[in-house]
Amino acid sequence: MSFNILLVDWYKNNKRDLPWRNTSHPYPIWISEIILQQTRVQQGLPYYERFMEKFPTVFDIAYADEQEVLNLWQGLGYYSRARNLHKGTRQVAFDLKGKFPDNYADWLKIKGVGSYTAAAIASFAFKEAVPVVDGNVFRVLSRVFDIDLNIASNKAKGYFFDFSKELIDKKQPDLYNQAIMEFGALQCVPKNPDCSNCILQNNCISFSKNIVHERPVKIKQKRIKKRFFHYFVVKQNDSVFLQQRTKKDIWQNMYEFPLIEENSDDLSEESMKKLNIKPTDIQLIKRNNKHILSHQEIYTAFWSINFEKAQKLIKNASKIAVSETKNYPMPKPIYTFMNELISK
Ligand code: ADE
Repeated sequence: MSFNILLVDWYKNNKRDLPWRNTSHPYPIWISEIILQQTRVQQGLPYYERFMEKFPTVFDIAYADEQEVLNLWQGLGYYSRARNLHKGTRQVAFDLKGKFPDNYADWLKIKGVGSYTAAAIASFAFKEAVPVVDGNVFRVLSRVFDIDLNIASNKAKGYFFDFSKELIDKKQPDLYNQAIMEFGALQCVPKNPDCSNCILQNNCISFSKNIVHERPVKIKQKRIKKRFFHYFVVKQNDSVFLQQRTKKDIWQNMYEFPLIEENSDDLSEESMKKLNIKPTDIQLIKRNNKHILSHQEIYTAFWSINFEKAQKLIKNASKIAVSETKNYPMPKPIYTFMNELISK
């Protein structure tokens, strides 16, 4: 039997009885889907019930103050979701005079409604054959069809959306969408799914390859972190002060000038106070272009300061003859700067 028929059959036999499933009216479906993006079904249920009790129609919520909506939302976090929901309901109640959009494209024009919510409402309320793509869908499809696309990539959502368009049951898209999400929530769970009792076992390519635990593939792009290193060049006769980087961090065990790391390309008042230095004690020698590492960008600035003023700064540094500095391994930006310093 085909994937969608097995899935919908499974759903009919295993679905949870949830209040938003007993209606085809877009309003309660909308409310439930927004809440369920923020929390799990069990935690979401009482919120849904309170919303429907206090705001039984779209006009009730649209006429309410934002504060009342936020009060009901309290505990769910991410309040901009609630604000956008409220704005969206005002669009429907006032701009559209209470007439709900009846298709995917028009739902996308409503504030706070993205592709997932639009697909859920258009399919559940209007039986439009547009697939939902959420974490459950990524998991079920990547396992059953052995799709190794990184689900954290920009490509993934579009790919799974197009892939699902082929699979969705055109006659009962509402049941198909509910079914795949319910299947992901109850059967094809993230950790240790019970594949020995699964109706899709014979269809599941990653099961046959014994790689279910490797799907979906999720490789988070690490954010590039910006770091600002302020170095102090303290000279005494023909020597300079260097210290070793001992912490578990970039450039471990290498040598550098005494350093203050800041959150910006400015030295903070606070750091200067701690080190007993005044802004007039230091002169900027040079700033480097950013130095790029795999997940970091390092911005360096080199400041000169007199030995007498630098006592706290050089606490952990050693005095090294300039002619000897070549024996000390240094990070590239420091090494380059040191060569410029020597050649002067
Ligand atoms: N999670 C998101 N939408 C849902 C729905 N309609 N039913 C159950 N869980 C959900």
